[in-house]
Amino acid sequence: MPTELILPLDIPTREAARPLLKQLQGTVPWMKVGLQMFTAFGTDWVKEVADSGYKVFLDLKLHDIPNTVAKAVESLSPLPIHMLTLHTSGGPAMIKAAREAQQASNPDLLLLGVTVLTSMDAAQMQAVGWNDDAATQVRRLAQTGSAAGLQGFVCSPLEVADLKANLPAGTQLVTPGIRPAGADQGDQSRIMTPGDAARAGSTHIVVGRPITAAADPVAAARAIRAELDSA
Ligand code: C5P
Repeated sequence: MPTELILPLDIPTREAARPLLKQLQGTVPWMKVGLQMFTAFGTDWVKEVADSGYKVFLDLKLHDIPNTVAKAVESLSPLPIHMLTLHTSGGPAMIKAAREAQQASNPDLLLLGVTVLTSMDAAQMQAVGWNDDAATQVRRLAQTGSAAGLQGFVCSPLEVADLKANLPAGTQLVTPGIRPAGADQGDQSRIMTPGDAARAGSTHIVVGRPITAAADPVAAARAIRAELDSA
């Protein structure tokens, strides 16, 4: 299966997002709706994105007691979403409860675990008691999440090879931090090209500004897909 392309809708208004939805139909299969748009425009917006012809990755990074997360997964089940994130650091009991709720209410939904946010440097990690280096902590959380039933994770493309080697075959690995060769890095520092990420084992890549800020977003998205298809 070629690596799939996901566009994050990091956009403040629906009016600004709609032209992109129209333009990229048939070129980008997935849209990521995160906290910015979900907290502002809610479930109606998720439905509108899905109705525009996209698979929706709802990136809410759930993290609470097991019962509350399970109820949230259940409450989201009428929505046309295909992927949903939760924080793996919520622990095995939270993950198992979420997974049971997902299997009962929305069997086709893929629950993805977030491991260590890339905004966490060594000082931030130590402040919350994570004393290992990031790679070790990411692997520990992913293995814990996998044992508790998660079938996919969000991670940096630089962690993909290690996770692929340490998780069951078929685990989905979704990676942001992607920049086509020659593209502006923006605020991303640990990056890979789409082709390298695909060859390392990313099953999905999340690419925002290289598409949204391009003079021709459709051409930019097509070029990335061509790179993924030939990886
Ligand atoms: O524009 P860009 O390609 O950098 O967008 C990447 C997307 O992935 C953004 O929505 C960003 O918040 C998200 N993300 C990330 N790095 C992570 C997790 C999420 O860049 N570790």
